[in-house]
Amino acid sequence: MILVTGGAGFIGANFVLDWIGAVGEPVVNLDKLTYAGNLANLASLEGDARHAFVRGDISDRPLLAGLLAQHRPRAIVHFAAESHVDRSIHGPADFIETNVVGTFRLLEAARAHWSALGEPDKSAFRFLHVSTDEVYGSLGPDDPAFSETTAYAPNSPYSASKAGSDHLVRAYHHTYGLPTLVTNCSNNYGPFQFPEKLIPLMIVNALAGEPLPVYGDGQNVRDWLYVGDHCAAIRRVLERGRPGEVYNVGGAAEMKNIDLVRNLCATLDGLRPRASGTYAERITFVKDRPGHDRRYAIDAGKIRRELGWAPAETFETGLRRTVRWYLDHADWIAGVQSGEYRKWIERNYGAR
Ligand code: NAD
Ligand code: TYD
Repeated sequence: MILVTGGAGFIGANFVLDWIGAVGEPVVNLDKLTYAGNLANLASLEGDARHAFVRGDISDRPLLAGLLAQHRPRAIVHFAAESHVDRSIHGPADFIETNVVGTFRLLEAARAHWSALGEPDKSAFRFLHVSTDEVYGSLGPDDPAFSETTAYAPNSPYSASKAGSDHLVRAYHHTYGLPTLVTNCSNNYGPFQFPEKLIPLMIVNALAGEPLPVYGDGQNVRDWLYVGDHCAAIRRVLERGRPGEVYNVGGAAEMKNIDLVRNLCATLDGLRPRASGTYAERITFVKDRPGHDRRYAIDAGKIRRELGWAPAETFETGLRRTVRWYLDHADWIAGVQSGEYRKWIERNYGAR
């Protein structure tokens, strides 16, 4: 079996569902259920003996030791993190606690567990750390895309905390020989994404008739990776990746934010037309994010060449699937729009 951390969040839940469906191997899912964790994401696994959910913190040493001793996983897939740049600007402390200290505690527990294994389990063990392209900093318009050898230059408290965790993972391989794998991927989108990130926020606001807040001039560029493609990449890296290696994962879909939002509005106009006019009428340019990275781009050549992975979705197909999912899951949307969510929206957008 495998241990997944953060498996009630957006990518983690998609991964657990994908893993149980595609591989069928049992999963222990450790998640603290912060504002971003949601058991409704895993409702389809209710009663499935292959999924065991444990509510807890990756920083809890006795809990980790107990889980590893009890379940003896052959791999740990580490998603748990504070993941939103804007929240890291308003309150960085949680990002250091979970992303840096939490990853350190998880590495320590994994090292103790792995050291005590006999062969062949010891050589077969894997610690897969899910990270972000944001650790590489910001690109100019003509710079080459990020590769696995691009120097780290994180610019936000979020990306700095993920960079710290990546360095710890690297050191645990280099120093102790822990068989680690690191993936650095671009912006994910798809079902179950909490509506604080760009795409679900825009969908949810558009459907509610609210303004669509584009930061700054809207010319910032991101690469967009459909979450199902990301899950397939992680499966591939876990299966065939070489210990100690880093793999960049991208969607081959670089886009300016404003073009993405216009495209999203056109998709919504097609699938859920307004009585009159277009959703794009609600696009509003608002005060920029401090330190806003201008451009991210991923060179995914290594994972393609070495592991034979490439994204299956284009941005067009992935976006349609995503918009349809949100249109079909009004209950899920209503369920995550708690008082805490409303407070966040007021805090982040109220003064913009
Ligand atoms: P998310 O915020 O949706 O989910 C994070 C999950 O981790 C939640 O379920 C939360 O409850 C859990 N968690 C947080 N702190 C915890 C702790 N201390 N102990 C146990 N569980 C804890 O995040 P996501 O978008 O699914 O991202 C998953 C991972 O992928 C993160 O490591 C993130 O840095 C990375 N990543 C995300 C993106 C993206 O576009 N979303 C892109 C690149 C990398
Ligand atoms: P986000 O989804 O927060 O991901 P990240 O900052 O990790 O790339 O934001 C994606 C892009 O969209 C980023 O350039 C910031 C921008 N953005 C807006 O313009 N408006 C918004 O309301 C949000 C949340 C993001």
